[in-house]
Amino acid sequence: MNGDYLTRFLIHEQRKSPNATGEFTMLLSDIATACKAIAHEVNRGALAGNLGIAGSENIQGEAQKKLDVIANDLFIRSLEWTGHLAAMASEENDEIIPIPPAHAKGKYLICFDPLDGSSNIDINLTVGTIFSILRAPEGRDNPTEADFLQPGTQQVAAGFCTYGPTTLMVLTTGNGVNGFTLDRDVGEFVLTHPNMRIPEETSEFAVNMSNQRYWEEPVRRYIDECLKGKDGGREKNFNMRWVASMVAEVYRILTRGGIFMYPYDTRDVNKPGRLRLMYEANPMSFIVEQAGGASSTGRRRILDIEPNGIHQRVPVILGSKAEVERVVSYHR
Ligand code: F6P
Ligand code: MN
Repeated sequence: MNGDYLTRFLIHEQRKSPNATGEFTMLLSDIATACKAIAHEVNRGALAGNLGIAGSENIQGEAQKKLDVIANDLFIRSLEWTGHLAAMASEENDEIIPIPPAHAKGKYLICFDPLDGSSNIDINLTVGTIFSILRAPEGRDNPTEADFLQPGTQQVAAGFCTYGPTTLMVLTTGNGVNGFTLDRDVGEFVLTHPNMRIPEETSEFAVNMSNQRYWEEPVRRYIDECLKGKDGGREKNFNMRWVASMVAEVYRILTRGGIFMYPYDTRDVNKPGRLRLMYEANPMSFIVEQAGGASSTGRRRILDIEPNGIHQRVPVILGSKAEVERVVSYHR
């Protein structure tokens, strides 16, 4: 119900499945708490000395920002003791993160990007946290990386939180998409955007145009047609946006439609895309599909990909269905 607190919404959902133990509800509630703690640190910014680089690199060879490290630590510390997880995987950690022996283990695995769009931190633009929940294989006390390598169709839930003018949480448990706004005075996420649906009609695209010369022909053709608009055979003119925070782009698409792409490019043969399957592409594809949109690499549905490593990168083309299908058709 519009205006419900997240906890109440989750318990309401839980009651719909007779076999639910409440573990999943508790896990989502703990994730919400972790995101509130991260939102607080992002908001404090320079006041808490949180801006700037940390002086370290992650496995992707990217310079970590202080807030990347803070958000990662907060997320891990908030979830490792809860008893709902069997292991975690973070974009910022080379290896999977085991649950410390002192704590109980649960039946879920979580993959997360603690602070997406971190190039925007120091310039006060929207950043966010993305997460994907999978089931741990039964009877496995100490999950390995291989246990995480499940296709996106196996996700039990996915969501993201954006730290912008307001702090928002978008969530799917495979039964539509709901958006919650953080009420700071009360300290709770409130259901403000029930049953989010991606508008089918769109005339907005998001892509980093500076990579144009590295794209493949089908993507060049699609963007070229958008740029030419009515003068080039499309029925309308297009508008462009590029926030460089996937969380903000996906939120915009959920709200007013559009297409987002980080397509295959030839800059680096070891990176067949920029975005990471487990922490970015899969959770966002689950959300987008649940909101009536589509998501593809251009050649295949993202949620069907059998992952080959937790840090695997893939091309991503997602958003309003008709536009994504058009790009896919150009790849055929
Ligand atoms: O985490 C990857 C990310 O920051 C996304 O949030 C964003 O869409 C993209 O990278 C921005 O890439 P670029 O710096 O090439 O614009
Ligand atoms: Mn990211």
